[in-house]
This record gives sequence, structure tokens and C-alpha cells, in this order.
Amino acid sequence: MKSQIIATLAALIPYALGFPHLANFPEYRSLAGLSQEEVRAVTRQFGGNMPGPQPLPPPITDTSGKLVNDAAHPFKPLRPNDIRGPCPGLNTLASHGYIPRNGVVTPAQIITAVQEGYNLGHQFASFLCYTAFLTDGNHLTNLMTIGANTTTHGQPTTGLNTHGHFEGDASMSRDDAFLGNNFNFNETLFDAFQVAADAVGGGLLTFDAIVLNRQIRINDSIARNPQFAFETPRFLGAIAESAFIFAMFVSNQTVDNQTPLTIDAVRHFFDFHQLPDGFHRRQGPFDFPLVENLTFSIVDMAGAKPGSNNGVNNYIVNPQDLGTFCYVYQKQVNFTATLYPDPTPELRAAIKQNMLTYYQALGDSTCTQYFPFGQ
Ligand code: HEM
Ligand SMILES: *[C@@H]1O[C@H](CO)[C@@H](O)[C@H](O)[C@H]1NC(C)=O
Ligand SMILES: *[C@@H]1O[C@H](CO)[C@@H](O)[C@H](O)[C@H]1NC(C)=O
Ligand SMILES: *[C@@H]1O[C@H](CO)[C@@H](O)[C@H](O)[C@H]1NC(C)=O
Ligand SMILES: *[C@@H]1O[C@H](CO)[C@@H](O)[C@H](O)[C@H]1NC(C)=O
Ligand SMILES: *[C@@H]1O[C@H](CO)[C@@H](O)[C@H](O)[C@H]1NC(C)=O
Ligand SMILES: *[C@@H]1O[C@H](CO)[C@@H](O)[C@H](O)[C@H]1NC(C)=O
Repeated sequence: MKSQIIATLAALIPYALGFPHLANFPEYRSLAGLSQEEVRAVTRQFGGNMPGPQPLPPPITDTSGKLVNDAAHPFKPLRPNDIRGPCPGLNTLASHGYIPRNGVVTPAQIITAVQEGYNLGHQFASFLCYTAFLTDGNHLTNLMTIGANTTTHGQPTTGLNTHGHFEGDASMSRDDAFLGNNFNFNETLFDAFQVAADAVGGGLLTFDAIVLNRQIRINDSIARNPQFAFETPRFLGAIAESAFIFAMFVSNQTVDNQTPLTIDAVRHFFDFHQLPDGFHRRQGPFDFPLVENLTFSIVDMAGAKPGSNNGVNNYIVNPQDLGTFCYVYQKQVNFTATLYPDPTPELRAAIKQNMLTYYQALGDSTCTQYFPFGQ
């Protein structure tokens, strides 16, 4: 009761300070674009719950291909305020309780859960997670969401649904933001899996079928979306995600013995947010350099190039876009700096620390490190 009263009073502080639009600011919402005064007003509402940046969690030690759809992680249907988003991998982990079922998470929770649930390698998991966190995370509370509800207490929330950066066009199962809903499952688009599987996989999602599906989805966006945007990071993201389903949505997969994936298994993740019955995570981590190998194999086989549409059916390749993971890091760090033109000293220090962690996660010392907020 007492804590409720305090919470209510805390929520009223922004009114008193002249920022009524910031009342009930969710602690998982990004602080991007706020002035120093606004950051101070909203952080008072967080009630001291501001751990700030945290180090990467350690890698998991047992990376065997064990049963992960187990009794300790039962699937549960969505409750009214649970947040899901554009990532079938994370949606499924939330619906099985590998990350909090409400979809509000810390980077460490994501990094550990994607290893536990799928054997995504510690390094690539860290890199991917911080790519998202630097766009969508709250650097003071150390929280983000795996998607968004349209509004929370009257506030728009974004999370992983934020369009035009990590989330982008030519997804396998979600529409381009220009064409419609960019985070809910779409059956029409999902049908392209069946088309590809029937054409070259004998009904299964072989590697060739996944490459063909990638081409179909890119060509569809070129033909229908005048604003189709497919540059780094979306370019590599989209292709890596095609590799993900091949590498991680197959039960009990080994590195050199790939069992072809079924449409039914893929639907479980994409549509139902559910692990198939008896699902075993892959055997051994899926990490750099295997991730790069598979991703760039798809780039080559699909003939994909970074670029964007200037009107439908007018795809302009961007030769300046390097399309490498190093370039993802560099563009992301620059982009994050533009999101915070006027940070408080505390927020600035937190972002700076998370940028260092991001570089550490990339693990490529040949890639030039950027310090937009100073060394
Ligand atoms: C490590 C943290 C992860 C983050 C931050 C993340 C984030 C995202 C985001 C933002 C998207 C939307 C991109 C788009 O289609 O526009 C996405 C898509 C996707 N993710 Fe994740 N993801 C993570 C891990 C995983 C894992 C472990 C898997 C699989 C085991 C996975 C599988 C996928 C797939 C297949 C898509 C494509 C969906 C589609 O094209 O319809 N992700 N992810
Ligand atoms: C968003 O929240 C509302 C209100 O709690 C709920 O009814 C709705 O199902 C949620 N939508 C999504 C997409 O999570
Ligand atoms: C699914 O995507 C198709 C193709 O972009 C679109 O025409 C359709 O309206 C979408 N369906 C839903 C339910 O959003
Ligand atoms: C996609 O478009 C490219 C360029 O026009 C073409 O070479 C390729 O065959 C197309 N792929 C599919 C599956 O339509
Ligand atoms: C998983 O694969 C290993 C060998 O690769 C095999 O010995 C084991 O029986 C498989 N487990 C299941 C549940 O299929
Ligand atoms: C790289 O990928 C190709 C094509 O999928 C595969 O044949 C090769 O064995 C892979 N090499 C490594 C080192 O993983
Ligand atoms: C990042 O910003 C720096 C400083 O403005 C610039 O020199 C560099 O070219 C940018 N790099 C990328 C990849 O955007």
C-alpha cells in the first residue's frame, strides 16, 4: 500500500516539473531524444532502479544438444500485457520462460537465454544483443523489450519493433513497415517458404530452399515497396536470420550433418512462438566464424547486394556499404551517438560503457574502434 502511494507520487513528478507527456514513462523505454531535463524528470520515476551498464555474462559451459522444450520451460499462452515482436527466436524463448514472459529483458538475460535455448554462440549472441540494445535499450535501467505494445500507459513504446535499423524490410514473415504491420506474423509472406521448399527442396527447407526464399522476399520488396531499404545493418541482419533458421530451428543439429528443416517446425517458431515437441537445441555453439561463413554463403548464392529502392523496381546498389559485421558495429555506434544529442553526464557515461562492451562483443581487433563520446 505504502509502496503504491510512493509509486503514484513518483509518477506525478513529471507533471510537477512540467513534463506531463513523460508521466508513467516505462523503465524499459529508450531515453533517446530526451533533453537533460527530461531525462532527469523520467529517471526520478524509476525509484532508484538504475543499475546502469553491466558486463557481459559468462558463456554457458555445457553446449551439448540437449532437450530444451522441457518440463522446466513449458509453453504458456500470452497474457494481456505480454510483449512480443518481430523476432521468432526471442518470442519463443519468452513464451517458454527462458526470458521473462512479459518480454521485458536485460541484455544479460537475452545473451544467456539464446545460448541455453538454441546454442547461439556467446560472442555472436553478445554482438547481436548489443546491436539491438544500442538502438532500443534504456542505458540507465539496463532494460529493453523484445517488441512493443503500441502504447503503455498512453506512451508509445518501441523496443525491437523500431523500424529502419535492426528491424527492417524483406523479412521472411513480417511485412515491410511501408506496406503494413512490421512485427506480427503474416501468413501470405510465410507462404514463400512453401514455394521455395517445393521448388528446390522436395518440400523441405534445405539450404537451397532457404536461399531461394531469401531471393523471393527481396524481389517482392523490390517490386512492391517504393521505399525498400536494404543497407547495413538490415542487409546482413536479413541474411543472417535466414542462416539462423537453418542453423538453429532444426532439432538436435550437428555442425556437419544438417537435417533439412520442415515448414511445420518453422511455423512453430514464427507463428506460434512455440518450440516443437521434443525440440533439442543444436549440438555445439553457432558462433563466429561459422555465422560469417553461412551468412556470406547465402549472400553469394542469392546474389544479394546492399542498397535501396528509388521507386518500385528501381533497386540502386550502394557500393559504399561494406556489408560486413565490422561495418555493422561502426554504423551502429555512429547511429547511437545521433540518438543522444544532449545526454546527462550519467547517461553519456552509460552509453559510452555499452559501446565499449559492444566492441568487445564484436571480437575483431582489426575493426577500427569508434569513440563518439570520447575515449
Ligand atoms: C541475440 C539476440 C537477438 C536479437 C536482439 C534479435 C533481434 C531480432 C530483430 C530485431 C529481428 C527483426 C528483423 C526483421 O525481420 O525486420 C529479428 C528477426 C529474426 N530473428 Fe532474432 N534476434 C536475436 C536472436 C535470435 C535467435 C537466437 C534466433 C534463432 C534461434 C533468431 C531468429 C530470428 C529470425 C529467423 C528472424 C527473421 C524473422 C523474419 O524475417 O520474419 N533471432 N531478430
Ligand atoms: C497490448 O496491450 C493491450 C492492453 O493491455 C492488450 O490488450 C493487447 O493485446 C496488447 N497487444 C500486443 C500486441 O501485445
Ligand atoms: C500480409 O502481407 C500481405 C503482403 O504485403 C498484405 O497484402 C496483407 O495485408 C498482410 N496481411 C495482414 C493480415 O497484415
Ligand atoms: C530475383 O531478381 C533477380 C534480379 O532480377 C533475379 O536474377 C532472380 O532470379 C530473382 N529471383 C527470384 C526467386 O525471383
Ligand atoms: C541427437 O543426435 C545424436 C548424434 O548426432 C544421437 O546420438 C541422438 O540419439 C540424437 N538425439 C535425438 C533425441 O534425436
Ligand atoms: C562454410 O560454408 C560452406 C557452405 O555452406 C561449407 O561447405 C563449409 O564447410 C563451411 N566451412 C566452415 C569452415 O564452416
Ligand atoms: C562514423 O562517424 C565518424 C565521425 O563522424 C566518421 O568519420 C565515420 O566515417 C563514420 N563511420 C561510419 C561507418 O558511418
